[in-house]
Amino acid sequence: MSSIEIREHPKFFNVYISGPPDNLKLYTRNLTPGKDVYGEKLVIFRDKEYREWDPFRSKLAAILLKNPQLNFFEKNLNCLYLGASSGTTISHISDIITEGVIYGVEFAPRSMRQLVQNTGERNNIIPLLGDANYPESYAKSIFTELDLVYQDVAQPNQAEIALLNCNYYLKKGGILIIAIKSQSIDSLKNIDVVFEEEKQTLEQSGYELVESINIQKHADKHVVFIFKKRIS
Ligand SMILES: C[S@@+](CC[C@H](N)C(=O)[O-])C[C@H]1O[C@@H](n2cnc3c(N)ncnc32)[C@H](O)[C@@H]1O
Repeated sequence: MSSIEIREHPKFFNVYISGPPDNLKLYTRNLTPGKDVYGEKLVIFRDKEYREWDPFRSKLAAILLKNPQLNFFEKNLNCLYLGASSGTTISHISDIITEGVIYGVEFAPRSMRQLVQNTGERNNIIPLLGDANYPESYAKSIFTELDLVYQDVAQPNQAEIALLNCNYYLKKGGILIIAIKSQSIDSLKNIDVVFEEEKQTLEQSGYELVESINIQKHADKHVVFIFKKRIS
């Protein structure tokens, strides 16, 4: 029997917490009980199984710990995840959006094999082997306009990749969450200049900045921007 008391997150749907505010731990309810994805702790509380969500392994967990103002989760969300890797973060989104779907794009065959191995039993994840620079290449597999695009690709053209995909798939008013790694763009330039340039690229292309979140406590040289696609 676990001594951890798990409670609902006061704001984010299907996200759970334990501990005091200054040492909060995050969890999601395990959609595939008994199975972990990346060695995370599984905790049983009142007959339900939860997966601890590690902010050092998942930038989305680091974002939630910074208490963003926008409440971007709903149970029937349709999402596109760019840079799905072996499934760490996408598996937590899968726990959260139990009536939605997440298309996970990954271009490295080895990571894709691990993704399928780690998340194959999760019916709401559709893995797509493809290059996020070419969103039309996976258009045959995506049947609906999307509510949310999450991007974590660590590439020199991060804003451009986000734009290509959001212009193609994201509905008007939809949300883009983008993790920007300055080192992948220009390791010699001032980090704040790099972030500002990426932000401006998106702002000048029909996306309104909702908030900017510093996650450097958990992910070195990263910032996260949350944008809304303009309605007009
Ligand atoms: C930082 S890791 C992502 C970690 C993952 N988001 C998580 O939290 O579980 C970046 C991933 O993006 C993938 N990637 C990079 N460029 C890509 C591209 N153009 N298209 C698709 N995947 C890409 C890499 O292969 C790598 O697996």
